[in-house]
Amino acid sequence: MQIKPDEITSILKSRIEGLDQGQAELTEVGTVLSVADGIARIHGLENCMSFEMLELPHDVTGLALNLESDNVGAVLFGPWEKIVEGDTVKRTGHLLDIPVGEQMLGRIVSPLGIALDGKGDIEVTERRPAEFKAPGVVQRQPVTEPMQTGLKAVDSMIPIGRGQRELIIGDRQTGKTAIAIDTIINNKDSDLVFVYVAIGQRMATVVGIAETLAEAGALDKVIIVAASADEAAPIKFLAPYAGAAMGEYFLYKGGHAVAIYDDLTKHAFAYRQMSLLLRRPPGREAYPGDVFYLHSRLLERAVKLSDALGGGSMTALPVIETQAGDVSAYIPTNVISITDGQIFLEPKLFNSGVRPAINVGISVSRVGGNAQISPMKKVAGRLKIELSQYRDLEAFAQFGSDLDPDTQRTLARGARLVKTLNQNEREPLAVGLQVVQVYAATNGFLDRIDVDRVDEFLVGLTQRVQSEDRALVDKIAGGDWSDETQDGLKKLIATYADDFGYDLDEEGQPLAEGESDRIVSRPAATNGAGEPGAESEAQEEAAGAAA
Ligand SMILES: Nc1ncnc2c1ncn2[C@@H]1O[C@H](COP(=O)(O)OP(=O)(O)OP(=O)(O)O)[C@@H](O)[C@H]1O
Ligand SMILES: [Mg+2]
Repeated sequence: MQIKPDEITSILKSRIEGLDQGQAELTEVGTVLSVADGIARIHGLENCMSFEMLELPHDVTGLALNLESDNVGAVLFGPWEKIVEGDTVKRTGHLLDIPVGEQMLGRIVSPLGIALDGKGDIEVTERRPAEFKAPGVVQRQPVTEPMQTGLKAVDSMIPIGRGQRELIIGDRQTGKTAIAIDTIINNKDSDLVFVYVAIGQRMATVVGIAETLAEAGALDKVIIVAASADEAAPIKFLAPYAGAAMGEYFLYKGGHAVAIYDDLTKHAFAYRQMSLLLRRPPGREAYPGDVFYLHSRLLERAVKLSDALGGGSMTALPVIETQAGDVSAYIPTNVISITDGQIFLEPKLFNSGVRPAINVGISVSRVGGNAQISPMKKVAGRLKIELSQYRDLEAFAQFGSDLDPDTQRTLARGARLVKTLNQNEREPLAVGLQVVQVYAATNGFLDRIDVDRVDEFLVGLTQRVQSEDRALVDKIAGGDWSDETQDGLKKLIATYADDFGYDLDEEGQPLAEGESDRIVSRPAATNGAGEPGAESEAQEEAAGAAA
């Protein structure tokens, strides 16, 4: 029999084509060339994709990151110590995905979705990709709904909107985590769900956070993703992406999620370690060149979706730890420039008793203003101006009575405003009540009270308002700031202030013993609000109404 070369060529050709059409099983399996520090180099995975999941023995999962001409560099999740040279690696053909779902609420999970809290397995059916392309401009809409933290200093002056990215930045032990936890507690009855990603913290700390949230009745609103300090770098690297994927599950169903990444400094450390082991070239501070892109890709996933896409939102609260307040280090500057604003915490303020220790002068929120309820916007405007005047003059406070009366008044007011913004942790305040307190402070109702008694005054005032005029608070929280509402509030506070009693006279001098009682019993009409600021505003308003 004669064989025609033509035929052979066509047979070979069809075989080769067949190979291309997905039957090339041989190239789908590779072998481990070397393994160390949770990183493996694998030979033979020719069609492997970046971020593809790989199957290794002993239930170890690999993630292909470096695609080189003769090998693939992969990071390993699971008991990677058991992997040895020569082990077989199989491609799975799909990119890394994470189990997601409501069932995870109230649980502590690993970045791969495995329960870590000993409360049993989590049954989920859905998975979402760990890396997901952030929605573009057309798919978004402006941020207009508030994400209330329950912290007076934040909600009044650094308001956060749903879909925003607001950085919490500061040295160690300045109350960064406390802000995040208070925000969760404040929203225990709202429609928000939280994903708290703990990166590189001790497991005991994470369990402590879960306990705090459980005590406050807020645990079932949170998924805690934990990549603790003793985990290998790849798990820490993966954690925020897993958290984002878990938040996106709610986001793309039209829900509202908040993802807290605590903290991205440790995430960057893990990525640097991994990259150096993968032999990627180091850049500034030995970080790989794409560490900026790494964080921007993550934070870009925070979004307020357009109504056509369900109108869901995901807010991101990344946390960054600075060294001695140095915001110009590589990672802090990166994340500052990626986010829509930052809450800046300072050890100096923390140690001087300002809690939360927020430096309101350099903290900003670039988009949240539109999301503020209008009463808060109104009272906060004045608060900001008076606080900044106070800060300008603060250095002169030591000269005390040598100062002119105006300066003394500004200083006295400022000291009371600072006190007003102080708040214990785990005691978030509803926004309506925040407005009441800030209003009382900026309208001078505290000026004749000792700075040390401001707290007592405000607590009493809050109780009074709640018991006597709940409806007023609800109206304010609903955005009503009509003249009628303001008048009602002013009267209520004035009566309360009279009942509370004064420590100082109208010039700010201490009252003699017994004198304060006389003033307390004076009728509100002659006493007015008891201080110049309130009266002048009443006049202003009267003038405004007449015009
Ligand atoms: N508003 C507050 N009032 C009183 N104490 C507070 C307040 N905020 C934080 N603290 C206390 O300050 C300490 C540090 O808080 P936190 O752990 O939140 O700081 P951190 O910046 O997250 O610290 P780390 O750098 O260790 O992560 C804690 O002991 C906490 O209880
Ligand atoms: Mg912390």
